[in-house]
Amino acid sequence: MDRASELLFFVNGRKVIEKNVDPETMLLPYLRKKLRLTGTKYGCGGGGCGACTVMISQYNSRTKKIRHYPANACLTPICSLHGTAVTTVEGVGSSKTRIHPIQERIAKCHGTQCGFCTPGMVMSMYTLLRNHPEPTLDQLTDALGGNLCRCTGYRPIIEAGKTFCKTSGCCQSKENGVCCLDQGVNGLPELEEDNKTSSVLFSEVEFLPLDPTQELIFPPELKIMAEKQPPKTRVFSGDRMMWISPVTLKELLEAKFKYPQAPVVMGNTSVGPEMKFKGVLHPVIISPDRIEELNVRKHACNGLTLGAGLSLAQVEDILAEVVQELPEEKTQTYRALLKHLRTLAGQQIRNMASLGGHIVSRHLDSDLNPLLAVANCTLNLRSKEGERQIPLNEQFLSKCPGADLKSQEILVSVNIPYSRKWEFVSAFRQAQRRQNALAIVNSGMRVFFGEGDGIIKELSILYGGVGSTTICAKNSCQKLIGRPWNEEMLDTACRLVLDEVSLPGWAPGGKVEFKRTLIISFLFRFYLEVSQILKRMDPAHCPSLADNYESALEDLHSRHHWQTLNYPNVNPRQLPQDPIGRPMMHLSGIKHATGEAVYCDDMPAVDQELFLMFVTSSRAHAKIVSMDLSEALSLPGVVDIVTAEQLKDTNSFAEEPLLATDEVFCVGQLVCAVVADSEIQARRAAERVKIVYQDLKPLILTIEDAIQHKSFLEQERKLECGNVDEAFKVVDQILEGEIHMGGQEHFYMETQSMLVVPKGEDQELDIYVSTQGPRYIQDIVASTLKLPANKVMCHVRRVGGAFGGKIVKTGILAAITAFTASKHGRAVRCILERGEDMLITGGRHPYLGKFKVGFMNDGRILALEMEHYSNGGSTLDESLILIEMGLLKMDNAYKFPNLRCLGRACRTNLPSNTSLRGFGFPQTGLITEFCITEVASKCGLSPEQVRTINMYKGLDQTPYKQEINATRLIQCWRECLAKSSFSLRRATVDKFNIENYWKKKGLAIVPLKFPIGVGSVSMGQAAALVHIYLDGSALVTHGGIEMGQGVHTKMIQVASRELKMPMSNVHLRGTSTETVPNTNISGGSVVADLNGLAVKDACQALMKRLEPIINKNPGGTWKDWAQAAFDESISLSAVGYFRGYESNMDWEKGEGHPFEYYVYGAACSEVEIDCLTGDHKNIRTDIVMDVGNSINPALDIGQIEGAFVQGMGLYTMEELKYSPQGVLYTRGPNQYKIPAICDIPAELHISFLPPSENSNTLYSSKGLGESGVFLGCSVFFAIHDAVIAARQERGLRRPWQLSSPLTPEKIRMACEDKFTKMIPRDEPGSYVPWNVPV
Ligand SMILES: Cc1cc2nc3c(=O)[nH]c(=O)nc-3n(C[C@H](O)[C@H](O)[C@H](O)COP(=O)(O)OP(=O)(O)OC[C@H]3O[C@@H](n4cnc5c(N)ncnc54)[C@H](O)[C@@H]3O)c2cc1C
Ligand code: FES
Ligand code: FES
Repeated sequence: MDRASELLFFVNGRKVIEKNVDPETMLLPYLRKKLRLTGTKYGCGGGGCGACTVMISQYNSRTKKIRHYPANACLTPICSLHGTAVTTVEGVGSSKTRIHPIQERIAKCHGTQCGFCTPGMVMSMYTLLRNHPEPTLDQLTDALGGNLCRCTGYRPIIEAGKTFCKTSGCCQSKENGVCCLDQGVNGLPELEEDNKTSSVLFSEVEFLPLDPTQELIFPPELKIMAEKQPPKTRVFSGDRMMWISPVTLKELLEAKFKYPQAPVVMGNTSVGPEMKFKGVLHPVIISPDRIEELNVRKHACNGLTLGAGLSLAQVEDILAEVVQELPEEKTQTYRALLKHLRTLAGQQIRNMASLGGHIVSRHLDSDLNPLLAVANCTLNLRSKEGERQIPLNEQFLSKCPGADLKSQEILVSVNIPYSRKWEFVSAFRQAQRRQNALAIVNSGMRVFFGEGDGIIKELSILYGGVGSTTICAKNSCQKLIGRPWNEEMLDTACRLVLDEVSLPGWAPGGKVEFKRTLIISFLFRFYLEVSQILKRMDPAHCPSLADNYESALEDLHSRHHWQTLNYPNVNPRQLPQDPIGRPMMHLSGIKHATGEAVYCDDMPAVDQELFLMFVTSSRAHAKIVSMDLSEALSLPGVVDIVTAEQLKDTNSFAEEPLLATDEVFCVGQLVCAVVADSEIQARRAAERVKIVYQDLKPLILTIEDAIQHKSFLEQERKLECGNVDEAFKVVDQILEGEIHMGGQEHFYMETQSMLVVPKGEDQELDIYVSTQGPRYIQDIVASTLKLPANKVMCHVRRVGGAFGGKIVKTGILAAITAFTASKHGRAVRCILERGEDMLITGGRHPYLGKFKVGFMNDGRILALEMEHYSNGGSTLDESLILIEMGLLKMDNAYKFPNLRCLGRACRTNLPSNTSLRGFGFPQTGLITEFCITEVASKCGLSPEQVRTINMYKGLDQTPYKQEINATRLIQCWRECLAKSSFSLRRATVDKFNIENYWKKKGLAIVPLKFPIGVGSVSMGQAAALVHIYLDGSALVTHGGIEMGQGVHTKMIQVASRELKMPMSNVHLRGTSTETVPNTNISGGSVVADLNGLAVKDACQALMKRLEPIINKNPGGTWKDWAQAAFDESISLSAVGYFRGYESNMDWEKGEGHPFEYYVYGAACSEVEIDCLTGDHKNIRTDIVMDVGNSINPALDIGQIEGAFVQGMGLYTMEELKYSPQGVLYTRGPNQYKIPAICDIPAELHISFLPPSENSNTLYSSKGLGESGVFLGCSVFFAIHDAVIAARQERGLRRPWQLSSPLTPEKIRMACEDKFTKMIPRDEPGSYVPWNVPV
């Protein structure tokens, strides 16, 4: 074997040669640390988020074609890149040279908030445009399917992408033959808008044109290399691993002969995650490089032969062509494969993963293997000894020794037979999310009738997700051969299959009854599909399907996205240069899009920097018996392991412990911190810390456990008004109920990150940290180190998403990191991996709401008694204040004249839960809305009628006796009803439901009254510092943190208005305790409100001082005035201050004025559910908001829709799963699903009420950061509405125990039918379930 050990590839047009490459290195850390290209971000490390997307280009000397494809850098070994060209976001464009049109448009269309996902989005779009300069909308949404964004709600990103599409702006649906552009929102022509409102947030005419000739060319050197240089097998050796890249089949077979245990790495999407997350180490890896035989595509007489090395995306393209070319009857299998390939993972994974890798890795939830097996595919194998074929069958899938590849064999290609006449193949899957999510259950089914007699000759059914491998229902199929295809056969088939594919109650992954139901629901669907085709082929002999059954046959396809926005224009008298009220782009937008924005971990390494890694408890409640650090400490590069002992009396802050002492109270509790020269060394050492635990009792995980054990954090809180007991005596009806609501992970895209740098003098420390509370970090670090706060400075430039999760836990992490840095006098960096972050940091509190409601038959609620219980986790954190806020906000938009509400935070053995956008309101608001729907159902009224009846009207008082004026609430409600054409659509939905048995639509509208205030005057104080320099430029600093919401942009708008200075003249560097001390935490929707008033104050102070100078020279420039002020010894620097909104709350009396104002709104959503699978799609949402006088409509719309989508995730999709021992299973995007691009409503309409005056706030604006989350529950109630329609049709009278989130599992199991009745049920208590709902 002729070998080379030099790795050569290009990055952004620059040649990279590596002579001693470590094969364990992935492209992402290589780009970020070695090449210092930090635009490519780490979000999960497992291919699930798309933050690390790059474009890889490869030249094929045989076809002379260049293939450009998107890839996840986190799973791309650099050794696999020889001869390729990598393009990162920095190579696409830069503000220093030329911004690429994609970067410009994503920024100008407001498609970026925190910006952390933006480089990945840019790269996915860029790769799309390199392949399709004028893509269709389908191609666009498909290209972005593997990229997650937690901030924007995706709509503006799609809008940016649409500007490149052929038919930009059009929904492309052409329903009823009418294009969306020709019809109004409700199918009626829209009225001409007056010039008081606007519907666009950007102007397309100013965009740079896309000019493909300007793109980086494929490096000619690589082309020449591919053409001229005979390829050589390359071998790279590292400390622990050797990488062999054979370039011919012969060499590959030799290598496999020599190293039979070595995996054959193709896309590394299966081997990579195993090595990373399961610690599997392969001493040798064989990675074939462009071997022709592995990339074949051949038509043989019996079928299509596809090379094992083809990527899944290439397979998709080939199959798409083949189904066009061949008659339908030959392509049944190909069509079924295509269906799955379109939803399997995202584009990046599909382009990396190979067909062979997919088949051979035999994941239990593989989408393709069940289909390939039912289709009787053959695997063509080669080894040094020769070639042979084996069937891809059940034995192969369960790795039976006789049916598997031998260790020296390679899978060269796969033969996929053509289907025959009277043969039908179908694919089914249901996942938590509609795309880019592993299936909960999937299936491949095939039937062959021989001839058109409807008698089964062959039947093959395989399932994925229901066992440790793909399972074949072989015996059942055998028994059905010879049976006619009719309902009797179906019934027998269901019973046989349920018997054969049995799942125990404790089966891993949970959702057991759902899985059992899906197994036969898919079978039913297959039965219907085939029956329909048979009927079409032979109408005389095949029975027709019942009309209302046909609805089972359609997949829930999403329509193309389209949107309308409507917001008030600024007053025409406003000066053109005054930016307040205008949709200004996020000022970091371009930097986000070019990857130039610097986040914490993008900062270069400091000399002698150390890395800190936490060791966390693996037990939920246990005594630490012993801790052995010796092996970890003996590893090279390990500097120290910090334990509680070293922290002594500073091991806690405000009652929050830092490191565990002798007892642990949750899995994920910080036990000790390993510090080493590098991240890899720290990680390896952390794995070697040996802790012996002794489990303790009780183990309290759920709210119910906590209530039973009376395990609470702090006293209960109570809110009472009127006389509830008396009111219960006079009401017509009384109803009791409860609802459980699961928690939520923040899933900020940038994980917890910090860098602590000791200054080497006077014990000073600089802390660069991704936090919402720099002062909190300063305080906790100063306390831990026993230093005065003036020695500890905390700096935050920007935060890659926070949502409430970067306060208390960040403080604890920072305190330990700072302790280590100070102890060793060296900089220490601590960046949590996604899994660690999810495990350690807690999230939104799960809630249990119990209620007793008294009401009149006309729907008036006169008495309401409620109990709220939150799952607070193991420490107090913010649980008390959250319970308080939950109580104060629980009334939402309703006047409850007689109310008693108790709130209690439960102490459990879970990581401490903390604040998350909405802070208690999304939970308590849902409980109240559920109560309303229950009352409606009892009264025989619609929920919207009961909502209207009980809504605040005009001037009124809240339960805590704060006055409110609900006029604008009513206005939002009415406008939302009107804009959504609620009554019209209600009738359409009802009609649809009558006509369709298996699909139901649901429609719901919810009002919103979101109180704004932080609970006390002092917590609302804010400060700012404004300097004007002698060249006339201004620098603004304030106490707010930029975490995507655009507060810095708004502050510059404020400074620009007040100083009458162009925005381009004003700069903002970031937030620091050095410039603005004693800041409050950024959160609670008020960051711009409060800091804006401080900036305004500072600017006004400056203007007052400078007024005489400006008046003296009104035509002068800022440079002239600054110089004149300097000459006259007038200070050009001013501090601004706002003391906080008046606020008080007396919990003893249950009275106060805790809030400054209310944000009002309403949202109406329509969904369609699939009763057979539990799937749902979001059809349309209309949102009307009262935002006061928006300072920046683009940013405000961004907050509303981003929060709405986050809320939608909360209420319908995001599910945290804990084991019965309290271990969090869901530790990354592959297990925990946040909304992706496929989930957003196909139609979204957002409009603002006309401006209103609100004298106390900043230019009469309102804070909008959080309120939209609650509006997500309109989707929840729309699903509820659809499920109720299904239940009514099925004659189900039993109440349905509703809980949140309404996942496919819950939807399916609520739509009870003969299939849910058929499945075996386990006796509760007869098994230990895989997970417990907490
Ligand atoms: C984020 C993410 C999402 C995913 N979503 C889905 C999904 O929705 N549905 C789904 O079905 N799957 C999904 N997958 C799984 C994915 O399809 C597989 O990981 C992938 O197909 C494996 O292909 P690969 O080329 O990357 O394999 P590799 O990791 O390179 O190799 C996998 C295994 O196959 C063996 N192998 C590879 N090629 C050969 C060969 N020619 N001969 C012999 N042995 C060989 C290797 O030895 C190795 O053991 C997902 C994976 C990720 C990371
Ligand atoms: S970091 Fe690579 S996909 Fe998430
Ligand atoms: S802007 Fe997409 S994650 Fe923040």
